Amino acid sequence: MKTRREFLGSLALPALASVAARLEALAPANRAPSAVAGDEDYWAEVARAYACDRSIVNLNNGGVSPAPAAVLAAQMRHLQFSNKAPPYSIWRVLEPQKETVRQQLARHWDVSPEELALTRNTSEGLMICQFGIDLQRGDEVLSTDQDYPRMVQTFRQRERREGIVYKQISLPVPAEDDAEVVRRYEAAITPRTKLILVSHMIYLTGQILPVRAIVAMARKHGVPVIVDGAHALAHFAFKLSELDCDYYATSLHKWLFAPIGTGLLYVRRAKIAKLWPLTAADASLDDDIRKFEQIGTHPVAGCLAIANALTFHQAIGDDRKAARLVHLRDYWAKRLAKNPRIHFNTSLKPGFAAGIASFSVDGLSETKIAGWLWRKRRILVTTVQHPSFTGMRVSASVYTTKQELDRFGDAMEHVLEKGLTGD
Ligand SMILES: Cc1ncc(COP(=O)(O)O)c(C=O)c1O
Repeated sequence: MKTRREFLGSLALPALASVAARLEALAPANRAPSAVAGDEDYWAEVARAYACDRSIVNLNNGGVSPAPAAVLAAQMRHLQFSNKAPPYSIWRVLEPQKETVRQQLARHWDVSPEELALTRNTSEGLMICQFGIDLQRGDEVLSTDQDYPRMVQTFRQRERREGIVYKQISLPVPAEDDAEVVRRYEAAITPRTKLILVSHMIYLTGQILPVRAIVAMARKHGVPVIVDGAHALAHFAFKLSELDCDYYATSLHKWLFAPIGTGLLYVRRAKIAKLWPLTAADASLDDDIRKFEQIGTHPVAGCLAIANALTFHQAIGDDRKAARLVHLRDYWAKRLAKNPRIHFNTSLKPGFAAGIASFSVDGLSETKIAGWLWRKRRILVTTVQHPSFTGMRVSASVYTTKQELDRFGDAMEHVLEKGLTGD
């Protein structure tokens, strides 16, 4: 008789393994990412791995992503198994398997498994860091006015509760000069600055910030950096080890396409002991990354299916995925950019953004356009609001077809020509 692991493996692997084999057949490993990026046969195979609703054109994949069917199926199988005899099936069988997920993620992003905590999302990982570092009344923490609102609220709450001082700098939109970005952070550091929060990719625009350079600059001043990697990990290619940061949090339900409610937190080995967990842990865990996972009874099915999402990600490859996301971004953005009423908040030059971009439209509210796109064409986008700019934010994914982007382009041209009228 098969063991449970063999049984699950025999169900889970063929689906993903056959996708991987078909992708390999369509584009052998030595074919350059730039050549694969526009190969529609290859991406049609990737798209087939999803069971998403094609009656909607979902261009808000940066918000939260659908998972490939095999990932969802793995999660469902773990969930069904969890329910057999939970104290046994969850605590004795499934929970220990989290360790292999930790190891696989650590190996892919080139850090030690002893530095990776499995969390529920970026918010949780960042709050562990934002709340978990001891600060005194009057100590300063620094970020920009383009950081994610929940993370801003976290520092504001510490301001109200503990009397710390939260400062924000502004950054150019778009920012095409990395040295200027680093200079702006550095100029705001004072002797009281104890912490910097940096978005790896800004949620309003998709702008990629020079995290490694910011971390190196801040280290010279003795200031640790928490990186908000919500949109970056598994979106464009990098290793966590390259960034050389102390704290990095991300959601895996965005660009890794893992089940909803999965995330990871990296904490440099030497920093674990001094970082307080958000949910209390026994002192024996003080120096153990698992102290950040002591959240009580919780579902483990999604967490284990991260491994299937990682397998899918690896079947495509970091560089090919990033190249495709940029290719699709360019496909819709360069069409719209021809219209003089469209102004991009995002640089379309290589290296400053990837699959997410936002733009404003002269003479029309982007919120109203987004409402029209949804009501009249069932096209889903999101809008962004900032005191100095607004925009419609578009993020296609690896399963998005060019026909879907054509429908978006046609709809936008209709709106620009005829206003928010007609079908
Ligand atoms: C930059 C940034 N940080 C943090 C978050 C929070 O992510 P989650 O809701 O998955 O915790 C988001 C969500 O979109 C984000 O864009």
